[in-house]
Amino acid sequence: MDWCSTFLTKVKSGKLTVGVIGLGYVGLPTAIGFNDAGFNVWGVDVSQRTVDMINAGENPTGDPDVDNIVPAPGTERWNITTSSAEAVPHCDVVLVTVPTPITHDLKPDLSYVAGAGRDVFQAIAKGSRTIVVLESTVYPGVTAQTWQPIIEELGLTIGEDLEIAYCPERFNPGDPAHGVRQVARVIGCSNPEVGAALVSLYQR
Ligand SMILES: NC(=O)c1ccc[n+]([C@@H]2O[C@H](COP(=O)([O-])OP(=O)(O)OC[C@H]3O[C@@H](n4cnc5c(N)ncnc54)[C@H](O)[C@@H]3O)[C@@H](O)[C@H]2O)c1
Repeated sequence: MDWCSTFLTKVKSGKLTVGVIGLGYVGLPTAIGFNDAGFNVWGVDVSQRTVDMINAGENPTGDPDVDNIVPAPGTERWNITTSSAEAVPHCDVVLVTVPTPITHDLKPDLSYVAGAGRDVFQAIAKGSRTIVVLESTVYPGVTAQTWQPIIEELGLTIGEDLEIAYCPERFNPGDPAHGVRQVARVIGCSNPEVGAALVSLYQR
């Protein structure tokens, strides 16, 4: 079976493993949503406090909608860690939901996108074809412009070792009509097979 058929079969059977990098307002409800949908989830945050709270079943974000839905300790298919190196090798797809603030001179600060991307790419096994999706809010072109040089520097090849895509999160915390499970999503990638694989995943 080719990699795309394998991915689609894993989505249907729930055998797929989803990584979420950055467990804040966007990442935590996203990770919970995929766990609820039956998938194996690996969540990563660089903040030890965030990881400790989630592992205690507590909500580290300020979003009250998340208060009662953080999985209890010991929940199946739910793994939370500070280490991308530990999480990423388990994952078929990795969603990157890190901050995109602005600098003091009002330019987009893409350092989190670059740093989290590097952590993920360093942990990808050659030939695994892991799909890495940027969900942070950025302007057009950022996914390729920021990530491709790092991927090349690490000696990885898009289309063989990994795939990259963009799927901006558009939800509005506190607004029930535009929750993380309601808003329509837009997926951008250069390989239509990757797009089809991601449509099947996000539909869940
Ligand atoms: N909050 C919203 O309402 C909202 C809605 C739509 C889109 N967005 C976009 O989503 C993105 C994330 O926003 P947010 O509000 O969830 O941010 P947040 O600050 O709530 O959460 C980001 C998390 O990423 C973690 N992090 C930073 N670098 C990391 C790394 N290298 N590896 C692992 N974890 C790392 C931080 O510790 C933090 O917990 C931003 O681009 C934002 O613009 C936010």
